[in-house]
Amino acid sequence: MNYSTATQTGTLLSRYYRRLLPLYRRSNTATDGGHSEEHKRTTAASASPYLEMSSPLDLYECVTAQGETVRSIKAKKGSKEEVDAAVQVLLQMKLDYKRVTGQDYKAGCPPQDGVTPQDGAAPQDGEDQVDPWSVSSSSAKGVDYEKLIVRFGSSKVDQELVDRISRLTGKTPHRFLRRGIFFSHRDMHQILDAFEQQKPFYLYTGRGPSSQAIHVGHLIPFIFTKWLQDVFDVPLVIQLTDDEKYLWKDLTLEECRRFTVENARDIIACGFDVNKTFIFSDLEYMGASPAFYRNVVKVQKHVTFNQVKGIFGFTDSDCIGKISFPAIQAAPSFSNSFPQIFGDRKDVQCLIPCAIDQDPYFRMTRDVAPRIGYLKPALLHSTFFPALQGAQTKMSASDANSTIFLTDTPKQIKNKVNKHAFSGGKDTIEEHRKLGGDPDVDVSFMYLTFFLEDDELLEKIRQDYSSGAMLTGELKKSLIDTLQPIIAEHQEKRKHVTDDIVQQFMTPRKLHFSC
Ligand code: TYM
Repeated sequence: MNYSTATQTGTLLSRYYRRLLPLYRRSNTATDGGHSEEHKRTTAASASPYLEMSSPLDLYECVTAQGETVRSIKAKKGSKEEVDAAVQVLLQMKLDYKRVTGQDYKAGCPPQDGVTPQDGAAPQDGEDQVDPWSVSSSSAKGVDYEKLIVRFGSSKVDQELVDRISRLTGKTPHRFLRRGIFFSHRDMHQILDAFEQQKPFYLYTGRGPSSQAIHVGHLIPFIFTKWLQDVFDVPLVIQLTDDEKYLWKDLTLEECRRFTVENARDIIACGFDVNKTFIFSDLEYMGASPAFYRNVVKVQKHVTFNQVKGIFGFTDSDCIGKISFPAIQAAPSFSNSFPQIFGDRKDVQCLIPCAIDQDPYFRMTRDVAPRIGYLKPALLHSTFFPALQGAQTKMSASDANSTIFLTDTPKQIKNKVNKHAFSGGKDTIEEHRKLGGDPDVDVSFMYLTFFLEDDELLEKIRQDYSSGAMLTGELKKSLIDTLQPIIAEHQEKRKHVTDDIVQQFMTPRKLHFSC
């Protein structure tokens, strides 16, 4: 490279890195106000911190623009030095892009998922499949959640976090926290910092109303969200994605509407506080709330088709409704989507409790949030409540035999558990007494870890079953005795959820919360 080319390259490179600076500032402002000491110390000259923190999409756009610059210099018959300098910068940008995304730059192909490669990479051969539509593992113990944390780039809910929640709320941790059922999180410490500083945050969760009855697995995030609402005393929004189910399932809009109301009854029966909870149907609220729709459109503008293909596996034959739907599930993560609750505040952070199958939506949301000037939502992820036939799949409404519905009678519960619940027991009583059962693959035992409150009793059952002192039939009976009253109580509470009460929860209104 001659002297003139080198000088031009140097100037162009520092311009490029200066261009990354505002991109970095923009994302940083949304998370820490851009005031961190590290941020103040760093200058445009030392570009690498900005590089690491720039979004893959921003870098992609820089490379694309530089490619166009090279082409236009050539088209205008620019000097050799000019062309060489621009090409040098292009090469440097491509190297930077590869360093940050782990992918080679390809014109016309934005980064696969808009997030760093280790953050939610697709399953490799033999790995567990976990996405919003399917969950499967080849292991009888179910999904390997430790590996999933690494693959999705989330953080483990460790003892320190559980202790901190308990210390700050003054409450015994919920059994789902004590037992690692809510096992993974994103930015939960940020939420606790805010709580400690008496800054508000809000909860957001949801349900896709695809059937009249919901199942026991669906209860998990709602039971836990109710506990979070109680101990933190914060507002909650619950999205019913009737639009999603219309787009994905063979259902009419009227059926989706009916399921929305029926599912809302089940959700309300979990005991949410009407003064602090807003439940909404997308089909109704989207049209009634310009603020919500504005956020949907903002997300839609900042995520490419290629990105959603990478994240959700959409294909060219998927309808365009599906392709744009993720923006609708993203929008409730931003507080100004609910002006009746938060006014025009966009700085109230959101915490989303859900099972980890929903994480792809929120990886996308977290990637896009800083680029549209919003806070990233925090998440708490749960493991899956397994299918009756075994932990290789999650409980799902589409297979009645693998599922205990909240509408099941005590007799149906008993029959389903006795007939279908996969057992970790041995083939004969003699063998079982001698060798013991395996609670780690036994579905009845797994269900008890979700629903039996008494830690000591659960531990005793584990020991007795493992030693062979407890037989499969006895373990199943203990599960039946635990589940029947819980489901009967739910049905009783649901009976008292009148149309009026549903209407109250679903009316956009001010909610009561401190701060
Ligand atoms: P949906 O209706 O499939 O599930 C509702 C909630 O239940 C969780 N879930 C389970 N949890 C434990 N074990 C299972 N077997 C099990 N099956 C489902 C899901 O993770 C979810 O938390 N697109 C969403 C609706 C939605 C949403 C949200 C969910 C919209 N916004 C925000 C969570 C958070 C759906 O169809 O969920």
